[in-house]
This record gives sequence, structure tokens and C-alpha cells, in this order.
Amino acid sequence: MFVNRFKVVQKIPQIVRNFSCSKNLLSEELFVHRDSNDNNPQIPFEFTEANMTRLCAIIQNYPQGCQRSALSAAMDIVQRQIGWIPISAMHKVAEVLSIPRMRVYEWATFYTMCKRRYRGKFNVKVCVTTPCMLRGSDVILQAVEEATCCCAGSLSADRMFGVDVVQCQGACANAPVLVVDDDYYEDVNVCDVHNIIQTLKSGGIPPCGPQSGRFAAEPITGLTTLCECPPSPGFGIQAGLGDASPPLPRC
Ligand code: FES
Repeated sequence: MFVNRFKVVQKIPQIVRNFSCSKNLLSEELFVHRDSNDNNPQIPFEFTEANMTRLCAIIQNYPQGCQRSALSAAMDIVQRQIGWIPISAMHKVAEVLSIPRMRVYEWATFYTMCKRRYRGKFNVKVCVTTPCMLRGSDVILQAVEEATCCCAGSLSADRMFGVDVVQCQGACANAPVLVVDDDYYEDVNVCDVHNIIQTLKSGGIPPCGPQSGRFAAEPITGLTTLCECPPSPGFGIQAGLGDASPPLPRC
């Protein structure tokens, strides 16, 4: 029997579903500089004596004429000295390395870890890439915003915290991941977030690493492979090639 396929098509109800409610990055901040009162070329920047010595030592690692290879190190030193990289510091780096300012601008606008505005005494970064998103990074971000009283992309009123949304931090096996400056807090839940922020507020440094009790990225329920002691060197080798007596186990 011929059935007109156009007649049997049923109306499928439209399902609208959000895949993610992650905060958007302000993309114009990645490549546009606008002079402001606290970030313009007239504000002088100088390396401290110790940092200048450090930078000169790094530059010495590269052949004559290749000082530009120390650009990443120079920018990292600036960021560790004052917490962020203003335009005047970029100009200083260009001067010290004898490279065009444009080369420094390119670096600063390419690497998202380059902070081009002050991000607080503690820069709290919440990873929202897929593995962390699947493990609840949206809830973690919300908890961070509540604990710091600071929305993603902004600075808390006391300038203590700057909260940022970031992409994969390379610790997906311990998702969800929170990074405070250089310290990774992994396997975090909402309660951990509040504890971490509270400790920072009270002047302490919370212990970093997995918060779930894991040592690293091993299965949470214990090891499932490589459970036995490994054999000693020489194990299984034919008798004619070595000591005929069987090697003693190492443990
Ligand atoms: S996705 Fe979050 S650390 Fe890789």
C-alpha cells in the first residue's frame, strides 16, 4: 500500500536545552588596549634590582642577538613583581630586550595567562572546559562568586579577589579544577570552595592538590592495575645469560 510519507510526518515538539551556562569571556580584552588612569604609557615602570639581575641572567642563556627568546621570562617576572602587566611594563620589556613593542603586544594578547589588568591579591580561576563542565564547574563558579562576593571577570570591592573563567588547566583527571594564582585545587566541591576562600580571607594558604583525599589522579576507589610489586631487574632472563639463581623479590 502506498503511503504518502509527507502525510505520516508527525509534528515533533521542539525541545530547547541549554548545553552550558558558562560565563562568556570579554573577548575584546584579549587584543585591545585603551589608555586609562591606571594603565597608560605615562605611568613609569621599573624592574626591581633583584628582578633586573634575574632577567639579565636569563638573557645570558641565549646567543647574542637572540634576546627576544627571553620575552616569556621577562613578562613572567613583571607579572610576579606587580601582579599584572600594564602597557608601560610592556614598553620596558621591549626596551630591555631591544625588540619592537609590537612583538611584546603580540605576546601579551596571545597568551591568556597574561594579566593585562589588576586581578586582585588572589586571582581565582575556574576551569569551564568540557571535563570540568561535566563535573559541575558551573556550580563551582557560582560558589566562587558567592564566597568572594565577586562576579566572573571582575574584582571584589576590597580588591582582594579577581575571579576569572578559564579554559583547560591541564588537570582534567581531577576535574573540577580551581586555580588560585599558581596553586591548583582539584576535585573540588562547593564546600571545598568556601573553605579555600575563607582560609585565604583569614590570611592562610589552604593546602593545594586534590581535595577528595586522592594523592594524585589514581582511581578514587583504589588502584585497579599495577597492584603487585614489580619484579626485580633480571627477572625472567634465561639462566645462561646471568645468575642462574632466581632474583629475590624487591618487597
Ligand atoms: S578541563 Fe578543566 S582542567 Fe582540563
